[in-house]
Amino acid sequence: MSFLGTRQSQPVPSVGGEFGEQLRTERLAKGYSLADLAQQLAVTKGYLSRLELGKAKPAPEMIDRIAKALNIDSSPLQVLAGYLPTDVKQILYRHPVEAPELLRESFGEYEVSRESTEQRRKNQQPVVRTAELGHTAIRRKDLYEIVHGDCFDWMDHRDPGSVHAVVTDPPYGLKEYTPEEKQKLRRGRGGVWRIPPTLDGYTRSPLPRFTVLTAEDKAELKDFFARWATKVFRVLVPGGHVFIATNPLVSHLVYVALEEAGFEKRGEIIRLVQTLRGGDRPKNAHKEFENVTVMPRSCWEPWGLFRKPCEGRVQDNLRKWKTGGLRRVSDEQPFGDVIKSYPTRRIERDLAPHPSLKPQAFMRQIVRAALPLGEGIVLDPFMGGGSTIAAACAVGYRSIGIESDPEYYQVAVQAIPQLAALIVNGEEVPPKAGIRSARDNH
Ligand SMILES: C[S@@+](CC[C@H](N)C(=O)[O-])C[C@H]1O[C@@H](n2cnc3c(N)ncnc32)[C@H](O)[C@@H]1O
Repeated sequence: MSFLGTRQSQPVPSVGGEFGEQLRTERLAKGYSLADLAQQLAVTKGYLSRLELGKAKPAPEMIDRIAKALNIDSSPLQVLAGYLPTDVKQILYRHPVEAPELLRESFGEYEVSRESTEQRRKNQQPVVRTAELGHTAIRRKDLYEIVHGDCFDWMDHRDPGSVHAVVTDPPYGLKEYTPEEKQKLRRGRGGVWRIPPTLDGYTRSPLPRFTVLTAEDKAELKDFFARWATKVFRVLVPGGHVFIATNPLVSHLVYVALEEAGFEKRGEIIRLVQTLRGGDRPKNAHKEFENVTVMPRSCWEPWGLFRKPCEGRVQDNLRKWKTGGLRRVSDEQPFGDVIKSYPTRRIERDLAPHPSLKPQAFMRQIVRAALPLGEGIVLDPFMGGGSTIAAACAVGYRSIGIESDPEYYQVAVQAIPQLAALIVNGEEVPPKAGIRSARDNH
C-alpha cells in the first residue's frame, strides 16, 4: 500500500451531494449569487449549479479555486468531494494503525460523513445531557469550589489534613507557564512552546519543548516540586494519594522531590496515548539520516502515583480517614496502572481552550480511583481548564481547583459544567461512578 506513491489528488469514491451542499452554504454565507461566483471562477452558472446539486464532480484544482474565491480553507471541501489531503495520506501511510484515532481526535473536521450538513452541524455541538444538566445544576455547584490564585498561598492557608486526594497536571517545565512564555504562546511565536506546523490549514495544539530545559532550569524545577510537595503533604490526610502527570524527560526530578517530602511512591499510571511528538529525523538533515529518529515517538504519558503514609494498617486508615487505597473499577476489576487513552477530543478543547487540557475519558478513571470509598475532597492545585474538577463532578466527587492565570481560570469557570456533562466515548458515565449528591460523599 503506498498512498505517497499515488497521484496527489487521487479521487476516492464520491460522497454524494455533501460537497454541493457545503459549497452552497459557503456561497450564501458570503452573499454571492450563482452568477457572481461563476463569473469569479470563469465557469458557467450551469456548471456551478450542477456542482451544488451534486450532479458534477469538481477537480481538486477547481476546489482550490473555489476556496480561494470564497476565502475559505479548501481541505474540508476536498474531503467532502472525495479527495484526501496530502498530509492525511501521509498519516495513513506512516501510522496505519493509529491513523483513525489520530485523524478523528486531532483533525475531526476531516471526517467524511454521510449525514446531512445540518445533522453534522448538530453533531458537532457538545454532547450535553441537557435534561440532566438542568436537573443536577445545583448539586454540581455544591460539588466543587474553584479559586483564582496561587496554589502555594492557598495551601498555606488551608487546614492541615483537609484534602483526601490530589490529581494534578503541573507546569512540567515551569517555564511554559511563566507570564513571558504564555505571552509568546498567545502570540503564536517563539519561546518554549513549539507551535507545530499546520496540517492542510488546521493548526494543531501547541506543545511545550522540554528539551530546551537547561541544568539550571532542572534544578529550579526540583526545588519547585520540593516546596510544592511539602505543602501538599501538610494538607492531605494520612493515606491520601497524589496522581501527578509528568513526562519521561523530567519525571525523575519530580518523583525524587515528592519522596523527599515524605510521600511513598506507589507506582505509576501509564496513560497510553499516541501523539505526534517525537519520532522526527535530525532537523535540516533528515534526507542525509533518513533512518534515524532523534527521540522516540511518544506513545505514553506517565502519571506518578504517591501516597502520604497511612496511620497504622490500610483498613484502620480507611475507617478513620477514608483513604489509603484506590477505588476498584468493579467487583471483578481492580484499578489498573495502564490506561488506554486518546488525545483530548476536539469537542472538549473547544469547550475548554487550554493548551494542556486532559481528556475526560481518562481523567474520570483516575479521579474516580483516587477516593477509595468515594468520600472526601479531590484537589487540583494546577487546575488549568478544569478537566480534573469536571471529572470529579462527573463521578460525583467533591473537589477544589486552583488556577493562577486569570484567563485560564475564566476558561475553567465556563467549561467545568459542560465538560462534566459530556458523554465520554459515546457512553454514559458507568452507573457506579454516576452523579451523586454532595451529601452522599460525607
Ligand atoms: C499543565 S496546566 C494544567 C492543565 C489541566 N490539567 C487541564 O486539563 O486543563 C498547568 C496549569 O497550572 C497553572 N499554574 C501554574 N503555576 C500555578 C500556581 N502556582 N498556582 C496555581 N496554578 C498555577 C498554569 O497557569 C496552568 O494553567
